[in-house]
Amino acid sequence: MTAKITEQQVRESLSAIDIDGKQQDLIASGLVSGVVVKDGHVSISMQVDPHNPDAIEPIKRTAEEVIRALPGVLSATAMLTAHRDAPAKAEKPAPESRLHQPAKHLIAVASGKGGVGKSTTAINLAVALQKLGQNVAILDADIYGPSLPKLLGTNARPTSANNKIVPIEAHGLTAMSIGFMMEEDAPTIWRGPMVMSALEQMLRDVEWGAPDILIIDMPPGTGDAQLTLAQRTTLAGAVIVSTPQDLALIDARKGLNMFHKVNVPVLGIVENMSYFICPNCQTQHDIFSRGGAEAEAKRLNVPFLGAIPLEMEIRAGSDKGEPITISNPDSPHGKTYFAVAEKLLAGLD
Ligand SMILES: Nc1ncnc2c1ncn2[C@@H]1O[C@H](COP(=O)(O)OP(=O)(O)OP(=O)(O)O)[C@@H](O)[C@H]1O
Ligand SMILES: [Mg+2]
Repeated sequence: MTAKITEQQVRESLSAIDIDGKQQDLIASGLVSGVVVKDGHVSISMQVDPHNPDAIEPIKRTAEEVIRALPGVLSATAMLTAHRDAPAKAEKPAPESRLHQPAKHLIAVASGKGGVGKSTTAINLAVALQKLGQNVAILDADIYGPSLPKLLGTNARPTSANNKIVPIEAHGLTAMSIGFMMEEDAPTIWRGPMVMSALEQMLRDVEWGAPDILIIDMPPGTGDAQLTLAQRTTLAGAVIVSTPQDLALIDARKGLNMFHKVNVPVLGIVENMSYFICPNCQTQHDIFSRGGAEAEAKRLNVPFLGAIPLEMEIRAGSDKGEPITISNPDSPHGKTYFAVAEKLLAGLD
C-alpha cells in the first residue's frame, strides 16, 4: 500500500517549481493560497493576476502535473482565484466580464433568509425537471456551506481533462460543488473576493456539456454570489423559496427586490414547509399558517409555483442523499415537486 500523500509533500513538490522571470519558486512566490488534500485527491488554489490572467495557465498546468506525479495522488486540480473588488451595485458589466453561459437556462434558487429549504427545493426541482425530459445540471453556489455532496449522497471527486474540471454525475444530474473539491471540515480557504472567483471558475472551467437547465443552489441572503450571477451571467430567472411565516416573507421580499434591482426576472415563489399532514390521522395542519407566500406572490405580481409540505420523508431523503423525487416520487409530497417543476417549465419560454 502506498503511503498517504500529505499537504506538506504537496507544498514541497511545488517549491521545486521555479517561476520564469521571478527568481522564485512557486511557494515562495505566494501564488499558491491554499492546499487541500483528501484521500489522495489534491486541490490547490492559485492567485491570478487579473490584469494578466493568461500568465498563470502554464504554471497551473505544471503544478498539476508535478502533483499528479507524486506517489499516492489520485487527482490534482488547481482552482484559480483572483482578488478583485466587488463590482459596484447595479453597475452594467463590460461585455468581456460576462461569464461563459454554461446552459440554455440558468435558474437561481434563492431566498433572503437561511435554512428555508433552498437546497432541498433545488435538488428536488432538478430531479423533477430531469424526469420531465430536460437535460439538467446543478451547481452549488454556496461556497461556505456547500450541501450538494450530502444531498446527492456522493463523495466523488471531480477529475480534470483537457484543462477542464469533469463534474460529478449522480441521480441523472450533472453536478458541481466546492464541497466535491475539499474536505468537509477543511478550513474555508475561499474567503471574501475568492468566493466570486471560485463561483466563476465553476461556471467557466467545468465541462458542463450542454444542459437545457442549470439549477443554481444559492447561498442565503443577497451577497456577492447573487450579484456575480445576476450581473455576469444571463439568468433565466430566480425561484424564491419562502416558509409561510411573516418574518421569512420579509426576507423573501428582500431577495426578490435584489433580483428586481439587477433586472433578473423572478420566475416564481415556492412556499416550503407549508403544511403538515399527520401520518396517523391524515389531517392537514397549517403549522406556520399557510398561504402567506401565495398571497404575497399575488400582491407582488409574481407567479406562485406551489406549496411543499413539511414532511419527514423529505428531510430524511436529503440526509441520506436520496431526494424524495428519486426515492418516493409518487407519494403526495413527492408529487408536489413535479407540479412546481411543470409550472416552472411552462413559464420558461
Ligand atoms: N419540505 C420539507 N420538509 C421537511 N424538511 C425539510 C423540508 N425542506 C427542507 N427541509 C429540511 O430543513 C433543513 C434546511 O433545508 P435546506 O438545507 O434545504 O435549507 P437551505 O435554505 O438550503 O439552508 P441554507 O440557507 O443553510 O443553505 C434540512 O434539514 C432539510 O432536510
Ligand atoms: Mg442551502
